[in-house]
Amino acid sequence: MPTLTLVDIESRLRATERSSLSKLWTEADQVRRSTVGNAVHLRGLIELSNHCRRDCHYCGLRRGRKSLTRYRMTLDEIMESAQKALQYSFGTVVLQAGEDTGLKVDWISDLIRRIKDETGLAITLSLGEQPLSNFRAWKKAGADRYLLRIETTNAQLLMHIHPGKPYGTRMQNLERLADLGYEVGSGIMVGIPGQTYAMLAKDILWFRKMDLDMIGIGPYLPHPDTPLAKVCVVSRVPDQVPRDELTVEKALALTRLVCPEANLPATTALATLNRSKGRENALNRGANVVMPNLTPIRYRRLYEIYPNKERIDETGDECYQNLIRRITSLGRKIGKGPGSRTLNRRIVPYP
Ligand code: 5AD
Repeated sequence: MPTLTLVDIESRLRATERSSLSKLWTEADQVRRSTVGNAVHLRGLIELSNHCRRDCHYCGLRRGRKSLTRYRMTLDEIMESAQKALQYSFGTVVLQAGEDTGLKVDWISDLIRRIKDETGLAITLSLGEQPLSNFRAWKKAGADRYLLRIETTNAQLLMHIHPGKPYGTRMQNLERLADLGYEVGSGIMVGIPGQTYAMLAKDILWFRKMDLDMIGIGPYLPHPDTPLAKVCVVSRVPDQVPRDELTVEKALALTRLVCPEANLPATTALATLNRSKGRENALNRGANVVMPNLTPIRYRRLYEIYPNKERIDETGDECYQNLIRRITSLGRKIGKGPGSRTLNRRIVPYP
C-alpha cells in the first residue's frame, strides 16, 4: 500500500467526481478482501444501561436529559441476550453502557466471568472512561477488547462538544487499554458542527498512529433534545464536513487504506442515514463487521443516543435473518469464531 499523506487524505475526502469515488471504493474493497478477507464478523450488542454521569453535548444519554427514562438490565436479562449471541453463532458480545456509576466493578467482573463460562464468546466492553484498576480487573476476569471512541482528535472541537472535560483523558485511557493487552477500538463521528476536512484527515492518520484494532466511523446525528443540535442550526464553518452518507463512506474507505488490517464495522448510525443500503454500501467500501442489536426490545428505544435508530423495533430473530440474507447476497460469508485482529499486530507507523 502506498503511503497516504495528510494532503492525499484531505483531497480524497473532498472528491466528488464519479471516477475518483469509484476508484476509492474499488481500492478499499480490494484491500479489505486481501487483508481481512470475505468474512463479515457479527458482534452482538447488548446495551446494559442508559445511565450516564457525563453531559456530552451531542449524546441523547447525557446526564442533563431529565426526560429520558433510565434503565439498567439485570444479570439474568444480560445472560439471556448473551445466549442469543451463542444461538445465532455470533463470535462476540459487546457490553455497552453509558458511564453508569451504578455498574460496580466487581459486578461487571462477575458478569464477564459468567459470560465466558457459559458461552465462551469473545467479550468486548464499551463502558466509557474508567479508572485503570477497573480496566485491569475486567481484563483479568476475561474481557478481550475495549471500545472507546475519541469522537475527534481536535482538542478545540472536543472541548466544544464536551465542555469542562480535560482533553487527553480518552487518549490516556486508550493507551492504558493497549498496555493491558486489550484489543483496542476507537472511532469518530463525521460531521460534528465545526469539524473541517483537515481535522477529519488528521483523525484518519491518528487511527494508524494508534495502530487500532477496531475503528467505528459514523455520522453525527443531531438529537433535538441536546445542546449540540441547536448549534447545528446556527453555526457553519466555511470548511464544514457534511454529516452525510457519502462523506462517512469516504472516511471509512480511506481508513481501510490507511489501516488495512483493522476491523471496521458498518455502523448503525450509518445504516440510520440510509436504511435500505447503508450497511451494504459500507460492507462494499471497506467494512467487515456488523453489530446486530441484542438488547431486549423494551429497552432499545431508551438507548436513544440519537433519534430514529435503525431497526429499533425489530426482534432479534427478524433482525438476524434479515442480516444474513443481506450479507450473503453481497457474496460475503458470515465470520466464524471471535474474529479478532490477527494479522500484523504492530504496524509500522507512517513517517
Ligand atoms: N450521533 C451519532 N453518534 C453518536 N454517538 C453519541 N451521540 C451521537 C450522535 N448524536 C456515538 C458516539 C459514542 C457512541 C457510543 O455513540 O461516537 O462514542
